[in-house]
Amino acid sequence: MSKTRLIKAGPRAAQAAAECLARGGLVAFPTETVYGLGADATNGQAVARLYEAKGRPAFNPLIAHVADVESARKLAVFNADAERLAAAFWPGPLTLVLRRKPGCPVSDLATAGLDTVAIRVPDHALARDILHAFGRPVVAPSANVSGHVSATTAVHVLEDLDEKIDLIVDGGPAPVGIESTIVACLDQPVILRPGGLSRGDIAATLGHQLAQPLESRDETPLAPGMLESHYAPRTRLRLNATQVGQGEALLAFGAPLSGAAATLNLSERGDLGEAAANLFGHLRRLDAMRAPTICVMRIPSAGLGEAINDRLRRAAAPKDIPPSSS
Ligand code: TXA
Ligand code: MG
Repeated sequence: MSKTRLIKAGPRAAQAAAECLARGGLVAFPTETVYGLGADATNGQAVARLYEAKGRPAFNPLIAHVADVESARKLAVFNADAERLAAAFWPGPLTLVLRRKPGCPVSDLATAGLDTVAIRVPDHALARDILHAFGRPVVAPSANVSGHVSATTAVHVLEDLDEKIDLIVDGGPAPVGIESTIVACLDQPVILRPGGLSRGDIAATLGHQLAQPLESRDETPLAPGMLESHYAPRTRLRLNATQVGQGEALLAFGAPLSGAAATLNLSERGDLGEAAANLFGHLRRLDAMRAPTICVMRIPSAGLGEAINDRLRRAAAPKDIPPSSS
């Protein structure tokens, strides 16, 4: 693989990205949630290169990104709940897992041979320009090495994937900062991954509560990417800290604990949206300091707090199980 090209968002960026995708290339671009690593969803070879570049296990399927709900309907069967959620939240930080339609052009490799497909319409001007210019579905996992902390800036992408991918389009930091909420709408709607859209907003649109995430029930997860160790920094994480130990770095929320060797605050004013936007960047920066431990203050679990706590729990999980998912 030759050098990775880095370009700034601008009038020609979407066209350059679309041309690269059409040649089977790998293009990282911002979405409102995190940076995605895009490949032509209909090109099995390009998808194979994508798995290889991320070091992602091939059993872990990818999300197909499209420009609008009409394009999404060509790929999958929408039931009434799916229609309702798409109308309310697309474009936006919502991924729907739906039954594949016969003739769905997304490569079997991208869906890991499942009869379902995950679809998202991102709400980011540059991502949408790229999808419009390309005109076909683009599979895009988070643009990080598999199992590592997700990328929310072009620099994070470069740190993980330099010389492994063709192009990075720098559109500034991803505003939401945490991945999309994944909802399977096959039978009863179920949240497979909490994310940038809160459970409460989804329930309000559906008119009823959702079943608990599968991992908290005694079943095999439907989202093969939801293995425990994930979003993992090298440094050990200690959650719900109420005091700071000798030499520890601190990931704070609200008024910080004292005594840390280094402190980064997710949100001094205790705002969960701000905390989500800062989460992965702060984890990367604290990890680079090589403290013995990063201790993390308690984060409320309401709203976006569910997704933040989910990512922190995975980041803190022991890493002696095989490197996972996305
Ligand atoms: O916000 C996001 O969703 C970002 C941006 C780039 O769009 N993408 C993202 O992709 O987070 P990734 O690959 O890091 O996570 C996708 C998750 C994985 O856990 C995968 O297992 C799950 O979606 N997934 C994909 N297809 C699925 C399917 N058919 N059934 C169940 N889970 C699926
Ligand atoms: Mg990921």
